[in-house]
Formats: sequence, structure tokens, C-alpha cells
Amino acid sequence: MANRAAVILAAGQGTRMRSSLPKVLHPVGGRPMIDWSIALAQSVGCERIIVVCSPNAETLQSHVKSQLGEGGIVLQDPPLGTGHAVQQAQAALQDFDGDLVVLCGDVPLIRAETVEALFAEIQTGAAVGVLGFEAADAGAYGRLITDADGNLEAIVEAKEATPEQLAVSFCNSGVIAARSASMFELLSRVTNENAKGEYYLTDIVGLARADGGTCRTVSCDEADVIGINTRVQLAEAEAAFQVRKRSEVLALGVTMTAPETVFFHHDTVIENDVTIEPNVFFGPGVTVRSGARVRAFSHLEGADIGARSTIGPFVRLRPGAVLEPGVKIGNFVEVKNTHMGEGAQASHLSYLGDGEIGAGANIGAGTIFCNYDGFLKYKTTVGKGAFIGSNSALVAPVTIGDGAFVGSGSVITKDVEANALAVARGKQMQKAGWATAFRDKMAAVKAAKKKG
Ligand code: UD1
Ligand code: CA
Repeated sequence: MANRAAVILAAGQGTRMRSSLPKVLHPVGGRPMIDWSIALAQSVGCERIIVVCSPNAETLQSHVKSQLGEGGIVLQDPPLGTGHAVQQAQAALQDFDGDLVVLCGDVPLIRAETVEALFAEIQTGAAVGVLGFEAADAGAYGRLITDADGNLEAIVEAKEATPEQLAVSFCNSGVIAARSASMFELLSRVTNENAKGEYYLTDIVGLARADGGTCRTVSCDEADVIGINTRVQLAEAEAAFQVRKRSEVLALGVTMTAPETVFFHHDTVIENDVTIEPNVFFGPGVTVRSGARVRAFSHLEGADIGARSTIGPFVRLRPGAVLEPGVKIGNFVEVKNTHMGEGAQASHLSYLGDGEIGAGANIGAGTIFCNYDGFLKYKTTVGKGAFIGSNSALVAPVTIGDGAFVGSGSVITKDVEANALAVARGKQMQKAGWATAFRDKMAAVKAAKKKG
């Protein structure tokens, strides 16, 4: 395989997002757009990745540097067009010789196999390879003009196109590949004599053709090349990501009765034979293991759900919730930074934070792990097979021994020994006939008031 490099264009201002956050840091599937492009370049084996940024976008620059180092960034100032943007990477790639692909930082959903196909065109003799798509509404996209053999003749920007060219629906995604030396040589001849007064990357196709080179296209679905300029397009890209991720999850052997109501994060891992009921939200870092069931209206982040566990309905799992196989968590239970051993249960209405719960323990309805005193957080440990009665408050730091019982309504502030019973609540008393006497007395008082 030839050496590969990627230049990712991200120097546009993104003003139509109306955001203080740089456009390409807005997330799709929970992952900043620019990270999709970087991950794509990495997944096709690009050994050099250069992001072209605006000097104004400091948050973007530090974000990119944290992933690619200082060498991963070049600045474009002022932005004079896509061709000019690619040229800014020329010095940084001086020592690179191989195949170069240009990606756009605001087009997050391109598939690795599509970029592979583009590189393959370069390897099999094309001077330039362009990723195209059939546009439902070609609008302002550059049109791909092909000859009878399907070779690419030129890319014509909408502003420059004739009426016949505007009628072409095969459009430029903005992703273009060439040998690096050839890319920069062609770019050195691009001028800005056009409708926008910009240096168009797309002009390298016409120049390569004039040199006698062949230019080829690769095509993909329009949904894979949604470019994001507005929040509407951001929402469209999110929807396209969700559609893709849901079908990937279904293909792995997962049952979802209403997949269109289940929302994934790009890193969600679901094993086979999991069932996900309607209206479930996955935040970052969730793994659901084989045979587990996630019931309706659950909100999950940073959680590892063990095999054959049942979660929900209406469960909230927060970062550090680690459930071993066969755990059962029922409605209105919140679990954070808590490990639950095999077969442990919390069936109703609890907050379990900063805890360690032994295998087979049963946490009764309304149990609270009081983990925070307003300053620091403390740990609650519940031993194997322990039974916590309903509506108990376990005030951390505290340990309930293996097999111990805690009586309902207890406020437990001291450790409980293994196999002991701890009860910490007001003692029950009883006054025989008190209620009858009370009612008689109050009825008399009320009657006296009415008369007077
Ligand atoms: C470009 C293509 C067009 C294609 C469309 C797909 C050119 C001349 N036209 O048009 O054929 O159909 O993308 O979306 O290439 N950028 C910079 N510096 C610049 C200009 C742009 O970094 O000086 C970046 C932008 O941030 C963006 C990308 O390049 O990520 C594309 O720029 P944009 O202005 O959206 O290009 P279009 O005019 O839409
Ligand atoms: Ca654009």
C-alpha cells in the first residue's frame, strides 16, 4: 500500500451555526465532527493528518493539537478557497510522498470503504479521484461532468454552470484524492478567476484532464456526505447517523421493537441477543452484554451492563455503573459509580452512588446511598446476599456485612456486622382506643364552634 495522508479542511467560519463553538466541534452521535474526519483518516491508514484551521478558532486548534500534536495543524489566513486551503498543508507535507485525500471537517459520515475506493482509483492510474453522489436537490453543489465512459471531465461550481450543467444531479462531495506531488503541482496552477474570486480545489480536475490525465469518480449515498452548515443540517446528520447505527446494531443480532425511538452514541457497544425496548437513550461509553434487556425510557451513560441483566423501565445509569451478569434494576433507580455483583437487585426507586454491592444482595425500594456531605463523597459497601429494607438511608462511609439485614426505614450511620440485623428508626408504640376518643372530642369542638 502506498503511503497515505489526509488534509482536513476546517478553516471556514461556520457563521450560519450561530454558535460560539467552532462549527466542526459540534457533535454528531456525541462525537465532534472534526473527530469523525480524523478517525476516518486514521482508519484508512493515513500516516499524516493535517487539519487546516482558521487562526481565530483557538478552541478548535487546541482540540486538534490534543489529538494530532502541533504538527497536525496548519493555519489558513485569510481563507481564499478550498484549493488555497489545501495548499496551506504543502509545507507540512514536504517530506511526504504518497496518496493524499482531502476531507472536509464538516462532512462527518463518510465511510472508510468509500475512501478506500477513492485511493484505489489513484492506485490504478487516475490522476484525480472525486467522491460524488446523486443529490436529491443539487442546489449549490459543484456538478460532476462525466464523459460517455464515465470518466470525470470537470467539476463545475453551481455559480459557473450552464443550464445543462445545472441539470446534472451527480455532485461533488468535496472529498478529492490524488498523488501528493500531483495535487500540489496542479494546485500551483489554479487561479481565482471565477465567480467567487476563490482558488477552487475542484479546478485540479480540468487541469489534470488538460495534461492528458484520467479523472475518476467514486459514488456513495447522499446520507453519507451530508455537509453541515446550519443546525438544521446538524440535525439531519444526527438523524442519518442514528439510522446507520440502528441498522448496524440490528445486524449484530439485537432486538429493537421501535428502533426509531432508540438513540445511540457513536461508541455504544451492544452484544447479540440484547433486547432494547422503545425510547432508550445511550450517552457515551455504554456496553450492553449478551442477553441483557434494556426496558423502555432508560437513560444510560458510562455503564457496563452485564449479560442477562434487566434494566428499567425508567432507569438512569451514570458513569461508573458496572453491573455483573444477571443484575436486575427496576423503575426509577439511579446508579452512579457503583459496582453491582452477580444477581444483585434494586427493583424500585433508589439512588445508589459510589457503592460496592455484593452478589445476590437485595436493595429495597426507596434505598438511598447518602454519599455526599456537601464537601466530599464517600463509599457505601453492601455485602454479598445482604438485604436492605425499604426506605433505608445508608450514610457513607458505611459497610453492611455479608448476609446482614437492615430494617425498613433505617438511617444507618455505623457499620453492620455480617449476618446481623440492624434497625435504626423510631420505636413503634400503640395507644388502644385513642383514635375513637380523638374523633369524639374533635367532633364536639367543631359543633360548639358552629352554634356560637
Ligand atoms: C465545495 C466544493 C463543491 C462541493 C461542496 C460540497 C469547491 C470550490 N467547491 O463547495 O464542489 O459540491 O464543497 O460541500 O471546492 N474551507 C476552508 N478554507 C477556505 C474555504 C473552505 O478551509 O478558504 C473549508 C470549509 O470549512 C469546508 C470546506 O472547505 O469544510 C468546503 O468549503 P465550502 O465553503 O463549504 O465549499 P463550497 O463552496 O460549499
Ligand atoms: Ca459547503
